[in-house]
Amino acid sequence: FALAALMAQGGYVLGAIPFGLVLCFLAGAGDIRKIGSGNIGATNVLRTGRKGLALATLILDSSKGAIAVLVAHMTVNHLGADSAGPVATVGPLIAGAAAVIGHNYSFILGFKGGKGVATTLGVLLATAWPVGVAACLTWLVVAGVFRMSSLSALTALGLAPAFALLLADPLHAGVYLALALMAFYRHLDNIGRLVRGEEPRMGAKKAA
Ligand code: G3P
Repeated sequence: FALAALMAQGGYVLGAIPFGLVLCFLAGAGDIRKIGSGNIGATNVLRTGRKGLALATLILDSSKGAIAVLVAHMTVNHLGADSAGPVATVGPLIAGAAAVIGHNYSFILGFKGGKGVATTLGVLLATAWPVGVAACLTWLVVAGVFRMSSLSALTALGLAPAFALLLADPLHAGVYLALALMAFYRHLDNIGRLVRGEEPRMGAKKAA
C-alpha cells in the first residue's frame, strides 16, 4: 500500500508540470491561459500559431503520463515484487492515473489545469500499447473528418474502455473508464459548444 501511495504521489507531481504554460512563457508566446480556450494543452498552444510549441507540448504532456507509468513499472521490478501480483499490475495504472489528475488539477496552478487528453494517451500507450494505438488512431480519424480536437479526444478516450476490453483486460478498462469520465468532466465547456455547434475547428486562430 505504501508503495502504491508513493507511485501515486510521484505520478501526480510529474503530471502537475504544466508544459504548455511553461513552453509558451519560455518562447515569449505569453500566458496561454489568456489565449483561445484558456486551456494549457497542445490544442490551445496551436492557436498561438506556433506549431513547434504545440508539438512539443503534445510530446511532453504525453511523455509525463508514460514516464509516470514506466517509473512505477521499474520500481516494482527493482523491488522484486511478484510481477503478477496486485502492486505490479495496479501500481503503474495508479501512477498513470495520478499523472492525469496532476495535469488536470496541478498544485503548481492552484489546483487548476488542463483536460488531460495528451497525458491520458501517454498512459494508455504505456500501460496497454494496443489500446493506446487504437485511441490515437481514433483521434486522428475523427480529427481528419471533423477537425475538432475536443470531439476527437472525447471519442478516442470514450472508446478506450471498450478497446481495453477487446485488447487488454477489465482492470485496464475500469481505470480507462475513470479517466474518460474525468476527461468528459473537464470538457463540459467544449461539450456545450459542440451541442450548440459553436466549437471552433482546428486551424482557426480564435476560440470561443
Ligand atoms: O486536448 C484538449 C482538447 O480536447 C480541447 O482543447 O483548447 O479546444 O478546449 P480546447
